[in-house]
Amino acid sequence: MAAPLLSLTWTDHITGRKGFLVVDRLVRGVSSGGLRMREGCTLDEVTGLARGMTMKEALHYDPECRYVPLGGAKGGIDCDPRDPGAYDLLVRYLRAMRPYVEDLWTTGEDLGLSQDVVDRAAAEAGLVSSVQAVYPLLDDEAAARRRLSDAFAVEVDGIGLAELVGGCGVAESVLTALDRAAVPYWRTRVAVQGFGTMGGATARFLTRAGLTVVAVADIKGTIANPAGLDVESLLAARDAHGTVDRAALRPGDRELPGDAWLSAEAEVLVPAAVSYAVDTANQGQITARWIVEAANMPVLPEAENLLAARGVTVLPDVVVNSATNAWWWWTLFGDVGPDAEEALAHVRRAMRTLTEGMLARAERDGTTPRAAAHAIAAERLPVIADRYGWYR
Ligand SMILES: NC(=O)c1ccc[n+]([C@@H]2O[C@H](COP(=O)([O-])OP(=O)(O)OC[C@H]3O[C@@H](n4cnc5c(N)ncnc54)[C@H](O)[C@@H]3O)[C@@H](O)[C@H]2O)c1
Repeated sequence: MAAPLLSLTWTDHITGRKGFLVVDRLVRGVSSGGLRMREGCTLDEVTGLARGMTMKEALHYDPECRYVPLGGAKGGIDCDPRDPGAYDLLVRYLRAMRPYVEDLWTTGEDLGLSQDVVDRAAAEAGLVSSVQAVYPLLDDEAAARRRLSDAFAVEVDGIGLAELVGGCGVAESVLTALDRAAVPYWRTRVAVQGFGTMGGATARFLTRAGLTVVAVADIKGTIANPAGLDVESLLAARDAHGTVDRAALRPGDRELPGDAWLSAEAEVLVPAAVSYAVDTANQGQITARWIVEAANMPVLPEAENLLAARGVTVLPDVVVNSATNAWWWWTLFGDVGPDAEEALAHVRRAMRTLTEGMLARAERDGTTPRAAAHAIAAERLPVIADRYGWYR
């Protein structure tokens, strides 16, 4: 695997805390990848995530679309996002990264950060926008920016469209896998780790499709109910960090330890919080048939081998959680308008095609879905490089 184009570690001059930026590759001089903030974030983690972004971009390559894939990148800051100094640290990090954001790195929210916070900090750091590096590639920059900001103003039942598209994509991957296996939605139970942007939206779309969410975990622990949780009331009881106010629990809901989601009696597990959540030590507790990676890198490779050996299928992050990133670009490049119905329909179509293609390839090649997704991306990358070039 080629080394990333750019890899840097920043040390905050006030707190001594570290921040990272990895640009895995450029297409037409630009890369795409969110910014995460978590205590313990490392350069290795950010490097893996940047590589994943390169694949996500390539997997969404559709010559019929106006959106042309970009390269992959990722930023990370080693700090608890609830730390009182976290916001000022974010502003200083973005000031330090300003030349990259201005020129070649488009970014947005990821674990620990919401888009509102990224936008506010980017403005304070003197940036026009967190995605300004892509503006020179747009035909009509003013119209594109208006479209994106209009899209960000769209809400569906109390949640912004931008925070729904990713989970809509995760849910569609789940539904596609169930359809291929001829498993009815109403008999399918789901446990989710993480109830922020990705986990919350995934739970909403799966519940609306007829599945039963039996457990959700946030930073404070697991909330479980074998008869099914009231997802909408839990969504309404979240704070800005995706922590559920336990006062909203209903009779029959139980509070369990943080790792209880993993062993919940459910057909589908959706890790939608941290990387490395499933390892060789805890994978044995899993009884689900599918693990659907809404989070980035939640299942360690050795754990995935053990899971595959006992018939548990992992649907990989590079496919499953790729809709948020693609939606930004479909909107900005003009493939979809600022309209929830149109955007969610586009997400569903694209994610179904992608998931179907990956599962069919895995079946054909006798590999895991992840190996199939990587094989598809590896075939597309040279095509994209040939057609559009790496640099401006
Ligand atoms: N937000 C996006 O657009 C997006 C897109 C693609 C992938 N992802 C990935 O999805 C994952 C979640 O991102 P997000 O934006 O939804 O984050 P978020 O900050 O909105 O929510 C994180 C959730 O995880 C919970 N959590 C954090 N640490 C936990 C722990 N140790 N145990 C249990 N729960 C814990 C939090 O309480 C919260 O409910 C990350 O891996 C991120 O890289 C996010």
